[in-house]
Order: sequence, then structure tokens, then C-alpha cells
Amino acid sequence: MRFPGISASVLDVVGQTPLVALDRLSAGLRARVLGKYEAANPGLSVKDRPALQIIEDAERTGVIKPGDTVIERTSGNMGTGLAIACALKGYKLVIVMSAGNSLERQKAIKALGAKIVLVPQVNGRPGQVTGDDLKAVERVTNELTVKLKAFRADQFKNRSSVKAHYTGTGPEIWKQTGGKVDVYVGVVGSSGSFTGIVRYLKKKNPNLRAVVVEPTAASILSGKRKTPGRHKLQGVGYMEIPQLYDPGLVDEFISIGDAEAMRTARKLARTEGMLVGYTAGANVAAALRVAKRAKRPMNIVTILCDSGMKYLSTGLFD
Ligand SMILES: Cc1ncc(COP(=O)(O)O)c(C=O)c1O
Repeated sequence: MRFPGISASVLDVVGQTPLVALDRLSAGLRARVLGKYEAANPGLSVKDRPALQIIEDAERTGVIKPGDTVIERTSGNMGTGLAIACALKGYKLVIVMSAGNSLERQKAIKALGAKIVLVPQVNGRPGQVTGDDLKAVERVTNELTVKLKAFRADQFKNRSSVKAHYTGTGPEIWKQTGGKVDVYVGVVGSSGSFTGIVRYLKKKNPNLRAVVVEPTAASILSGKRKTPGRHKLQGVGYMEIPQLYDPGLVDEFISIGDAEAMRTARKLARTEGMLVGYTAGANVAAALRVAKRAKRPMNIVTILCDSGMKYLSTGLFD
């Protein structure tokens, strides 16, 4: 029997996240900064939506059936999202990640029943995964995909990621703001969220301004740096231009350093009561910069990508 107040499973809880006005941080400014609270997803991040979409699209097209093995290389959030979807739908899941990623991420994925393959770092430090580290992870993932005859979720290429945000996150933001969204500010990892959300919002409002946020040390999309350096924003700022990235959607780039991202994450916790991670800190720092220069009232929307609970073993809140 179905009751309207009961979700059939945790998969029904993915998405429909709150949009929270960060009015205490933007006090005194003309513009309003609104945070899409993706940490409220069951896996505590923005990657639950694409993870579920990837599995459901693969099921629909007959690529996988329950009992099959799914594999992915991930810094953790996609792994958690996939682990939730695979646990509910009956898939074996193998997650390949760099040993440089935080311990919480590894433990959460294991707890959800997935198998973790840790790849030793080539030249990064714990908490700082480099391009070379990622290449090593990619090599191992390719080998295991063949060996296990697994379906690779392939978040960096799979267009289901864009679809999840084009059909979910974007329309939710539009509805939650009553169609009044002037600027979107967002980091780029796979670019699934940036491309999907901006494509939808620009379709609805061609005057929307889209701002890409990059780690200062890895500002390669804006062309400010040719060789990416180390930074602490796990999940974004890789050394390649992602396949899902569409430069035609971008109006501006803002670079944010580790210190500013961390400072802003701490302020979010203390001032807004929102415990979020490094990339959320970077997003809000960039959104506040846009808000400070705004000459008229406007809504600036950004993403609070994941929970600060994932970074308690790092120095984020020390
Ligand atoms: C913490 C965090 N923030 C932001 C992102 C970027 O999201 P996207 O892959 O949609 O660009 C990711 C992606 O994994 C992430 O883990």
C-alpha cells in the first residue's frame, strides 16, 4: 500500500533539495546569494542525482541488469551516489579512487556495500590529488573494467550527468526562484552540474549570466594557467577540459584560492549554520564577489555541493 507521506525507497529522496538564502553572509549587499543545498541528498552531495540517472539510463537501454558489476573512478561523491543506487537496485559496485582522498569518503562507500580499490599517489600529498595521481587511477580503472566485464559509469563522459541536472536541478532552481534567477555561479568537475543547470536556465532566461569558479592553482578553463598546480578543492579543477564542459555557456571566470574557500566554508558553518565542504566554500566566495559588485537587486544562485561531514579529518574546520 502506498502512503503519500512515505518514500518508497531512499532513491525517491534524491533531488528536490532546498534553496537557502544566505542572507547573513550577504547582509548589506544589494544582491541575494541563494545556495542550492545539495548536501541534503542521501549521499550528502550533488552527485547523487547523476549517479542515479546513469544507472537508470543504463537499465533503460538494456546495458545493465541486476547482478552485473558497475565500476567507476571517483574522488568519492560519485562513488557514494552510485553505492546508494547499486545497493537498492542489486548491482555489485567497484570504486577506484586515489589514496589521497579523505578517509570519510572511503569509509562511507564501503559502508554502503561497495568494494574500494585504492591507488597509491604518484606525487600528491594526502588531501591533495594531482593530475598524475588521477592518471594512475584511470589506468587501474581501465584494466579492471575489462577484467571484471564491468559497466563503467564514466561520469566524465556520460551525458546522463548533464541530463540529471538539466531535468532536475535546473528546473528546481527555476521554480524555487519563481523564474527570478540572474546569475549562476558554479565549480566545474565533470561539468555535469554546470552544463546541465546553465543550459536549462539560459533556455528559460537567455540573459542569465553564468560564472565558472576555478581553484586559483588550476585555472585552466579560463586559460590563466597552463599547468595546474595543487589545490584542496576535491572533486573539481582537474588538468583536463572535461568533455561535458561547454565553453559557449560561460560568461565569466572567477578563481578562488584554498584559503578563501576554507574561510568561506567556516563562515557558512558559523553564520548560516550550514556545514559544507571546500567546493561549496569556493562557490559561495565567488557568489559573494559577484554580489558585492551588483548595482541592482538580483538573485545569484550557487551550489552547496557537499557536506562538511566529509572533511572532518582534513583541516577544513580546524
Ligand atoms: C565536492 C564536489 N564539488 C563539486 C563537484 C563538481 O560537480 P560536477 O562533476 O557536476 O562538475 C564534485 C564532483 O564530483 C564534487 O565532488
